[in-house]
Amino acid sequence: ELGNYRHFMQKEIHEQPRALIDTLQDAVMGEQLSSAIFGFEAENVFAQIDAVAILACGTSFHAGSVAAYWLEAIAGIPCRAEVASEYRYRISVPNPRALVVTLSQSGETADTLAALSHAVSLGHEHTLSICNVPESALVRASKLRFLTRAGPEIGVASTKAFTTQLAALFLLTMVIAKQRGRLTSEDETKYIHALRALPAEVQRVLTLEPAIAQWAERFADKQHALFLGRGMHYPIAMEGALKLKEISYIHAEAYPAGELKHGPLALVDKDMPVVAIAPNDALLEKLKSNLQEVRARGGELYVFADFDTQIANSDGVHVLQVANNAGWLSPILHTIPLQLLSYHAALQKGTDVDKPRNLAKSVTVE
Ligand code: M6R
Repeated sequence: ELGNYRHFMQKEIHEQPRALIDTLQDAVMGEQLSSAIFGFEAENVFAQIDAVAILACGTSFHAGSVAAYWLEAIAGIPCRAEVASEYRYRISVPNPRALVVTLSQSGETADTLAALSHAVSLGHEHTLSICNVPESALVRASKLRFLTRAGPEIGVASTKAFTTQLAALFLLTMVIAKQRGRLTSEDETKYIHALRALPAEVQRVLTLEPAIAQWAERFADKQHALFLGRGMHYPIAMEGALKLKEISYIHAEAYPAGELKHGPLALVDKDMPVVAIAPNDALLEKLKSNLQEVRARGGELYVFADFDTQIANSDGVHVLQVANNAGWLSPILHTIPLQLLSYHAALQKGTDVDKPRNLAKSVTVE
């Protein structure tokens, strides 16, 4: 079943181009997007909403956090992503016009299911679940649905489920933007073409694996690591940190790079590797000065950069070029090297990659 791979996690990382093709296929076949990919009632539901509330746990929460950037910036609709287990226990202000989106690989996560029932009990009727398991409890409890087609995910660390959730959420953003008159037909065509090209781009990023495996050797003896990203790449930094913690047991934390000087910079020394996500976007120059601050304190930098960022390899600064700037889709491409880094760090440490200690694939208890 594993073929040439050593673990399910590695296999599932490499299945991502195929998983994305399968997930996107129906949506991007033509030259126009249809809200019907979310269910036949979707057009009617989307016409009534004035906000989006995303509820999920763990890696699925990180996908939702990226989508919050997309939905506000592209579709112009207020959106927040919230950890499902917190939402269900806080006193919130229900907005019956909000679309409640639950995200889950398994569709059986107890906290996410309970958050959905809580939302419904508060009067939320517009519910959508984006899920990898058809007929799971979450899908059955939601009015609208979109099934990611990642295929069974065996490794406890979620990989292909995450990138396919992001693809689904980008489709959701575009469909809502279109319905709200925020998407020109030129942009619609441009994004459809970008989505069609995405699996091949991911495939290309996967060829960085040997270089990343070499970097990972230098993480194995470390106690801590810091992950930095800005804007919509901050949740990707969170995802990179979660992956490293989960399977290599190295303590990792993510920060939006601008927060460094508000505290975490105090931690930085030569024993603290700092992983930075450096897309070639409007925040690049700001990020570069954040990175200089790290270097000035002796921190060892591992930078996953876009092409043409002019961040050079130098003493204590290791740079791998990941991709051309993929615009809004960039978080999907920048996830791949972080998955590979944590996988290879775990290999170095000899942990049980597919079944890390204390964790279950599907968290069906609170
Ligand atoms: O099946 P779900 O997407 O609802 O699972 C949510 C989390 O338990 C899950 O993403 C967890 O954080 C993963 N082990 C992360 O790799």
